[in-house]
Amino acid sequence: MKHFFRNEKNKPTDTTEILFNAAEKIPHHIAIIMDGNGRWAQKKFLPRIAGHKEGMNTVKKITKRASQIGVKVLTLYAFSTENWKRPDTEVSFLMQLPVDFFDTFVPDLIKENVKVQVIGFTDQLPLHTKKAVEQAIEDTKNNTGMILNFALNYGSRSEMLEATKQIAEQVKAGELAVEDINEVVFEQQLMTTTLGEYQDVDYMIRTSGEERISNFLLWQNAYSEFYFTKVLWPDFDEAALEQAIGVYQTRHRRFGGI
Ligand code: FPP
Repeated sequence: MKHFFRNEKNKPTDTTEILFNAAEKIPHHIAIIMDGNGRWAQKKFLPRIAGHKEGMNTVKKITKRASQIGVKVLTLYAFSTENWKRPDTEVSFLMQLPVDFFDTFVPDLIKENVKVQVIGFTDQLPLHTKKAVEQAIEDTKNNTGMILNFALNYGSRSEMLEATKQIAEQVKAGELAVEDINEVVFEQQLMTTTLGEYQDVDYMIRTSGEERISNFLLWQNAYSEFYFTKVLWPDFDEAALEQAIGVYQTRHRRFGGI
């Protein structure tokens, strides 16, 4: 199977071939800010929610392709702690999306051996959303392949503040000495601790042309590579993912070294 690097317009070029056989060249943990649903809909004179609906279909496509490529963790920013500021109808629609997604996609996730996990303040989600997520986690808990990690009602600053409070409690209770606080201790209190060896992000992708991090995995992105594309999330397809990974394979990660 021959895969080609593709340009922004999705036309294949034969300049760079993705190295699918070099496992070390596939980012283990890809995190995506799925931006541009609203603009996609607006361009088509559709309501914003139509963009989110199409965005959900993109989630299905990208999940399958990432899993087949050999990605270990795919974290998707589905709803931030700031997204509650949107109009009620849009928030309601976004809260229904995980229900529809898992209703229609869990059999495929099982077939693909994909395991669902979640990070975020899920206690604050509406009951139907929370239940759908919990059921999907339960249904896929024995899968051993890629982790599909949804960030739902997630905010990185709040995550770090909560971690800090937990550590302070441990110190107060005499269970932890201040001088023993280190990166490992801190990471154990982050929501991403469930990702084990993959909790650091390797590759952070943001669609739609915006170039900011928006309170997403601030600690975990410390040494990740960033990729920004003008493609709107509903248009981000398998070829676009392959193009992004092709770019990752040209990067030289030094982790502060030389
Ligand atoms: C940002 O685009 C997107 C969101 C806030 C929601 C992302 C949600 C999905 C892609 C669907 C998620 C699917 C599941 C299964 C949970 P925007 O609305 O800010 O777009 P705009 O910047 O063009 O207005």
